[in-house]
Amino acid sequence: MPSVFLKTYGCQMNERDSEAVAAQLVAKGYSLAPSEAVADVVLLNTCSVRDNAEQKAVDKMTNLAGQFRKQRPGVLLGFLGCMAQSRGKELIDQLPDVDLVVGTQKFHRVADYVDDLLAGRRDKIVDTEEERGSEATIKEHLLNGAAKGKAVTAFVSIMQGCNQYCTFCIVPYTRGQERSRSIPDIVAECRELVARGVKEITLLGQIVTSYGRRNSESAKVGKCESEKDGGAGRLSLSHSPAFSPATSPFVQLIEAVHAIEGLERIRFTSPHPKGYGDDLVAAYARLPKLVESAHLPVQSGSDRILKLMHRGYTRSRFLEIIRQLRAVNPEMGITTDIIVGFPGETEVDFAETLALAHEVEFDNAFVFKYSPRRDTPAAAMPDQLPEEVIEARHSQLLAIINEIAERKNKVCEGRVLQILVEGPSRKNPARLEGRTRANKIVVFEGSERHIGQLMDVRIVRAAPFTLYGDPAIVNLN
Ligand code: 5AD
Repeated sequence: MPSVFLKTYGCQMNERDSEAVAAQLVAKGYSLAPSEAVADVVLLNTCSVRDNAEQKAVDKMTNLAGQFRKQRPGVLLGFLGCMAQSRGKELIDQLPDVDLVVGTQKFHRVADYVDDLLAGRRDKIVDTEEERGSEATIKEHLLNGAAKGKAVTAFVSIMQGCNQYCTFCIVPYTRGQERSRSIPDIVAECRELVARGVKEITLLGQIVTSYGRRNSESAKVGKCESEKDGGAGRLSLSHSPAFSPATSPFVQLIEAVHAIEGLERIRFTSPHPKGYGDDLVAAYARLPKLVESAHLPVQSGSDRILKLMHRGYTRSRFLEIIRQLRAVNPEMGITTDIIVGFPGETEVDFAETLALAHEVEFDNAFVFKYSPRRDTPAAAMPDQLPEEVIEARHSQLLAIINEIAERKNKVCEGRVLQILVEGPSRKNPARLEGRTRANKIVVFEGSERHIGQLMDVRIVRAAPFTLYGDPAIVNLN
């Protein structure tokens, strides 16, 4: 059977989609090639969120096409995912060697399309249609993580799309309208993963805090009044009965996943501050498997810019959520996304973002240079900033974020932290790597038998992005 090399750009959702595509191909008898050089089929699963992500995939494909045209003209080339969705057939016009373009609602068809193309039944295939129910089609996981050893952690897609329409963001156009899977369907997938040895599940979606707000499927799980109160409910840190009327569908989902025996940890990404109701904050207090870690994209510290971005919250509301989260658990690891150089961002606006970074002291942050995206309102806004200004602000903010991140890591030195051991360290495969509940990476000397275990390690050294631990010291105690 032919072999397939699948390369993924972009977010965890893309990683998850690729995993499912790979599983389908393997189920049909294809093998996964270790590199493009030996593959019969090369698929690039693309990202559109910033121009450089698109550019990387286009450059890669241009190189592959040039190389294969001379040496192995039979190799099948395809674009999948977000850029495939937003550009469609245009990609084949630009790169005529490309055989396959499959959008974000058709990942489950990729294996069939590859079959058709290889068998010569079809010449070129472009499928960027919408498909009802496509949010529930991505279920396959590589059995026991065939490609990466026994999987300890897994991503589970709970919804697709986004209706927030932030003015900078291409996602509503590449991923479509919000569509949520039902709670029983998601729980069934999680159960299967746990039965295979998965200890930690990350619930994935473009805007997970909107889970179940827009479709009747998940509304069936319990009466939900969250539309009325914006999902806020009353902040109560005491244990509240499951599925109380004020509980948002997303928190109901977390509760249902939390009940799975054998599952140790739950994470989710990405939420929107607008949907971060009191019930979600309270969930951290009453659901011990929901680890103390929150990735909460703020985008800007300026109310004026937040409004232009159509974010739907103010700086002070964001700060309030951070305060609530830290009140629940002072150990909460908090990360964020920030865009610098949004159209019209003044020095004063930028200073507000710097001040917010100092005030919150994020454990880490992704800092992005604003990139105009097709069809988005911000791309047509006046006062687009010059590249040098964006570049300078990016460096300035990044330096502050890194300095704070390093300082916060240092605080961990000497402490004993619980980690879930995931496998060999990416940087040095002779060592093992795990994550703390607050999502910090810990590298330590361990052995095969530690993989999949929750264990306590003493942090002996903190580097800017990694902690180094010593389990032996704790084991001797
Ligand atoms: N330019 C720069 N960054 C962007 N992001 C989304 N759209 C853009 C854009 N047009 C960033 C946001 C988002 C993250 C995934 O990517 O910060 O949270």
